[in-house]
Amino acid sequence: MINKCLFPAAGYGTRFLPATKSMPKEMLPIVDKPLIQYGVEEAMGAGLMTMAIVTGRGKRAMEDHFDVNYELEHQIKGSDKELHLEEIRNIMDTCTFSYTRQVEMKGLGHAILSGEPLIGDEAFAVVLADDLCLANDDGVLSQMVRLYKQFRCSIVAIEEVPMDEVHKYGVIKGEMIREGIYQINEMVEKPAMEDAPSNLAIIGRYILTPDIFDILRNTTPGVGGEIQITDALMQQAKEGCVLGYKFKGKRFDCGSIAGFIDATNYCYKKFY
Ligand code: G1P
Repeated sequence: MINKCLFPAAGYGTRFLPATKSMPKEMLPIVDKPLIQYGVEEAMGAGLMTMAIVTGRGKRAMEDHFDVNYELEHQIKGSDKELHLEEIRNIMDTCTFSYTRQVEMKGLGHAILSGEPLIGDEAFAVVLADDLCLANDDGVLSQMVRLYKQFRCSIVAIEEVPMDEVHKYGVIKGEMIREGIYQINEMVEKPAMEDAPSNLAIIGRYILTPDIFDILRNTTPGVGGEIQITDALMQQAKEGCVLGYKFKGKRFDCGSIAGFIDATNYCYKKFY
């Protein structure tokens, strides 16, 4: 079924400069846990144990995070500080991590295509770690994996956003085939408000069937001169079926300062 989760994580995180000058934005912590770890835990919760991370220059801290740190572990051995490493140890014992670099920044579609050697010819999940998704026991990826088992096609997570924010997202239009599930017939990346087909925005969780790689190879640059996953998915929707899924849970846009602060406050109250 679905075993692998791809994390496009090569972007610069310019909105968080200077914090992200030498630190990957995916390593920014929500309280005491980096964003990428929340994403990995969500993937594990959905039964995906193979993590494929597309990194870039200056992003090595992510690889170190999911690796042992002998010196630190030796120092705190036997003290109650060891407890703080329990979660990450469990991740390292359960999952495998592989990495590849996106050498040029040519958009999300290009980043996903760069991950092809780590994925191969099987359906896979994609998590954009700066969209932090929190759901009680049933994570957003778990919900989507279940849906994939029924429909066997690409799926994007969607959420209603205010019309004056649609320009930040890929936006879909579709026919509702079941409560909260849309068969997509239109998809536009970052439309102006007046051109948006709806206010149903794509958020950073995808299940993709592997034919997406061939489509991406032939996708010409779109908005911002970048190869857009939204354009490739529109092609897939034309040829077959792509679903939009209104997930159950809460999403924070941790790529923006305001969303990051909201997520921090929410998690601090809820988990600490
Ligand atoms: C990307 C996608 C966009 C999607 C968004 C979700 O945009 O291109 O379709 O709505 O992620 O976070 P980005 O935020 O990388 O500009």
